[in-house]
Amino acid sequence: MQALASRRWFAPPITCNIPTLASFAINRDNTQGVVHSRHKQRKRKPEMKLPIDLRSDTVTRPTPAMRAAMAAADVGDDVFGDDLTVRRLEEQTAAMLGKETALYVPSGTMGNQLGLRVHCQAGDEFLCETNCHILCYEQGAYAQLFGLAAQPIEGDHGVLQVEQLMDRIRADNDHCVRTRLVCLENTHNRGAGRIQPYDSVAEICGWAAENGLARHLDGARLFNAVVATGISAADWSSHFDTVSVCFSKGLGAPVGSALCGPADLIRQARRHRKALGGAMRQAGIIAAGALYALDHNIDRLADDHANARILAEAVRSSPGLRLDPEIIDTNIVIFEIDPELGTAAAFVARLRDEGVWMNTTAAQRIRAVTHLDVSREQVQHAAGVLREIAAEVHSVAG
Ligand SMILES: Cc1ncc(COP(=O)(O)O)c(C=O)c1O
Repeated sequence: MQALASRRWFAPPITCNIPTLASFAINRDNTQGVVHSRHKQRKRKPEMKLPIDLRSDTVTRPTPAMRAAMAAADVGDDVFGDDLTVRRLEEQTAAMLGKETALYVPSGTMGNQLGLRVHCQAGDEFLCETNCHILCYEQGAYAQLFGLAAQPIEGDHGVLQVEQLMDRIRADNDHCVRTRLVCLENTHNRGAGRIQPYDSVAEICGWAAENGLARHLDGARLFNAVVATGISAADWSSHFDTVSVCFSKGLGAPVGSALCGPADLIRQARRHRKALGGAMRQAGIIAAGALYALDHNIDRLADDHANARILAEAVRSSPGLRLDPEIIDTNIVIFEIDPELGTAAAFVARLRDEGVWMNTTAAQRIRAVTHLDVSREQVQHAAGVLREIAAEVHSVAG
């Protein structure tokens, strides 16, 4: 039980697939193939702040300056349209994306679902990438709530080519759902933060428009693509009718997303938002955090991208670990662990013993996401821990 006693960063209950104490105990019984009991106490600088939470860029907490902006926010009842801070956020976001107007919503999920809802009626379908967030992580809300169907098409780490979509529009007859919409996700979460290249976005959306299909972008991490490519948010967005962007991911605000688009569609979205219970009252308090994030936290996303490359290098140089994809576009690193070294869950549990938190995304896959609450120094420390544990596990397995 010595290893259990040294488990300093045991997590509070959370919703993602972090190993529990029980699963750790099972691992120690060696059913997962990773030996835990031999690891030596790792040296670290006493001032190193732990844990280093790389599970997601949603885990950030508002800084004192952001909190001060939130505390000072001018608020009103946004259902009556009285909240000036929400209005400012909507105007500023729409302007940045080059859209007529925007709607503040509680989550990226709601932004996407409202985007689908304003383009489609029951019995319609949309084309999307197989691993996109809308399909994988939003409970099929489009089907549950709106009677829509999805036609998934597998991309290369989330990236689609226009040729893959060309024969996917269904025949216009009574047997078929009506193909109405193309959804893209940029950057792509399950594709390890991959950027759907600008030219292919233009091609896909141009083809969709010529064929009478609407275009929606899940731009939860659009600003990561902006910073990585130097292409403006307005240019990226110009190819889409509606774009959903998140303030609570890399930008570091505590709550909220915006759905941006033409006034008539956003008017409809506002109605549907009310039906979903997403109309909020003095939401200026949280909108002020989002405004602060837009004003202060976009350019610094480049630091997160550089930090992700440091983690990727640690993976690359560790035998038994394999980056997938090899090249890191933005702030998400996904890698696989050779089954001979154990499961992803066991490896994540070992990292966690050392105060480095990552997530499993499949039996042999692990994801790490950089963000503004992890410094360069912490990422370098995490990279060192990852290298050492990989070497340890490798030597035990070998
Ligand atoms: C690409 C993408 N879209 C949408 C969402 C949904 O955002 P929320 O968690 O705010 O509903 C996420 C969340 O991680 C995401 O990664």
